[in-house]
Amino acid sequence: MNRIYTYIITIALLMSTGTLSSQSREGDPYWVVRSIKIIESHANNMLPSVLKSKKLPRSEERGLQPSSDWTSGFYPGILWYLYIYTNDYYWMINANTVTEFLEEEQYNQNDHDIGFRISCSYGKGYEYTGNDKYKSVILQSAKSLSTRFNEKIGIIQSWNPDKKRDWKCPVIIDNMMNLELLYQAAEISGDDSFKKIALKHAETTMKNHFKKDYSCPHVVDYDPETGKARKMDYNNGYNDPEIAAWSRGQAWALYGYTFMYRVTKDKRFLEQAEHVADYIINNPHMPEDMVPYWDYNSPKIPTKRDASAAAINAAALLELSTFQTKLADTYYKAAEKTLKSLSSDKYLAEPGTNGNFAIKHATGNFLAGSELDNTLVYADYYFIEALYRYLELNRSKK
Ligand code: GLY
Repeated sequence: MNRIYTYIITIALLMSTGTLSSQSREGDPYWVVRSIKIIESHANNMLPSVLKSKKLPRSEERGLQPSSDWTSGFYPGILWYLYIYTNDYYWMINANTVTEFLEEEQYNQNDHDIGFRISCSYGKGYEYTGNDKYKSVILQSAKSLSTRFNEKIGIIQSWNPDKKRDWKCPVIIDNMMNLELLYQAAEISGDDSFKKIALKHAETTMKNHFKKDYSCPHVVDYDPETGKARKMDYNNGYNDPEIAAWSRGQAWALYGYTFMYRVTKDKRFLEQAEHVADYIINNPHMPEDMVPYWDYNSPKIPTKRDASAAAINAAALLELSTFQTKLADTYYKAAEKTLKSLSSDKYLAEPGTNGNFAIKHATGNFLAGSELDNTLVYADYYFIEALYRYLELNRSKK
């Protein structure tokens, strides 16, 4: 495989003109094609600074960050989507280059974010090219993530203990997004122990992280001695976990349980995803355009939007709509409406503006005053993922 891959790269380098060539097909909705073209222009304008610095874009406010930043995998992921959409080796070569900026992260055991970093970069690259070189990085990364699994609690610890916050084993809902890495590693290696960890984490989170209305706080802290959940807490979202329903956190939950149903076909996960979808779609504080405020229960609504939550919701709802459920059409329509909003001038920036990010009006951490009404690379990543899923669904219906 490696020799074939090197051969392809060499041919591609000879053929590549560096011109941008989005490939739409007859019947693809114009607004989707236009949005992907705009993302492509932004990504291309961003590229020289990334190649020069070997750092990855996070947001206009935070600029380029080293590979250790939790967001480092998203830009490589955007380039992989551009490659699979355009079929242009220009994007494959550049996606490969920026993916390899993350190589050392495979050994990073400092937090759970290795899943975000590696799944969106090496994981997507492996999915779209089958490049053998990526396999060992994915496997090593899954091993690194597995070191954070606490057998007694049945959970992957997100962050390290923190005396000031009175956290012994803090777990955040975002951690559901890291399970994909474990499933991919299991598939590559045939080692089912990765799957067992993912399954247990999803079950324990389902048991302890949700309130009666199926919303969730950002953080749940566990006691490593008793194995029990100690308290709900916040880091992102509103600062009272009893009230908080941080919109990106609800989106991570929706995406995570939808993914878990995809890989296990376990009805409990489908039901959980449907409950979270219901909470989001029918939320009385969801704005008409489906781009949520930073927390559904912020006491000061209207407040800043978080377009990244909207993009994650759209990607997850589209997948949920492919399963046999009574509300499949509702999920599809909610996703479509969200994507149409994000494709409007209100949210989608003209190329050459917005610091070379596509999406406007995203919020990093409102109460921390960080990346408010800003650009966020993960808003762009989940936007292109959702657009691509939408196109594929549309094409398969024809
Ligand atoms: N995973 C960190 C965040 O969503 O802000």
